[in-house]
Amino acid sequence: MTDITAARDKLIVALDLPSAADAEKMAARLGDTVGFYKIGLELAYGGGLGLAGDLIKSGKKVFLDLKLHDIGNTVARAAAQVAGLGATFLTVHAYPQTMRAARQGVGASPVKLLAVTVMTSYDNADLAEAGFALGVKDLVAKRALQAQAAGVEGLILSAEEAQAMRALLGPGMLLVTPGIRQAGGDIADQKRVMTPSRAIAAGADHLVVGRPITQAPDPRAAAVAIVAEIAGAQ
Ligand code: C5P
Repeated sequence: MTDITAARDKLIVALDLPSAADAEKMAARLGDTVGFYKIGLELAYGGGLGLAGDLIKSGKKVFLDLKLHDIGNTVARAAAQVAGLGATFLTVHAYPQTMRAARQGVGASPVKLLAVTVMTSYDNADLAEAGFALGVKDLVAKRALQAQAAGVEGLILSAEEAQAMRALLGPGMLLVTPGIRQAGGDIADQKRVMTPSRAIAAGADHLVVGRPITQAPDPRAAAVAIVAEIAGAQ
């Protein structure tokens, strides 16, 4: 495997676009530069969930960022439905009941569960406002251990916490980091951000990048630059 192939597999492009047609156009523009796509809430509710199967058929990997969270029975049944879609990753919120229910729901399916620890758009003040007693660092660590105990394969976290979580959990847990911005890039609503090379150096397995690619004047060139930065950091 070349460095560029390995680097390409580490980049997950968030197709945060309003419709399947827009997402398809973006995937066509990105072409071979990108091999892994994330379908999140905007696209899923915009009728884009069916695109997952098309992308998978065309040889791409798909991350369904559906952030499941409900009573256990509902989460288990929803996870069982998603398990049949052929995705590589599925997100659930990192509540112990929710994670255990999702684990049971996906059964023997190869889809890997990723637990959303603390949104990368949150800082300590946002957690306090929402009624949490713990700050970001401590809540991420608590939820990371709970995810591991629930048999979840990976975590969504900011690259700022990646190194500490790798030390806490060992090599088995996948660390997937959104909140990626190139040096000097517009951070928009994100608060815990890091550059691609620093995120890889901190131990991230995959980087989720949305607007820095999809809203770039030349999305393909932006993706090429990020893959090159990842390759340089490996
Ligand atoms: O455009 P941007 O690169 O900020 O997109 C980040 C993507 O990662 C979005 O699709 C967002 O929903 C997702 N995400 C995140 N923080 C989390 C979990 C998911 O930004 N904690």
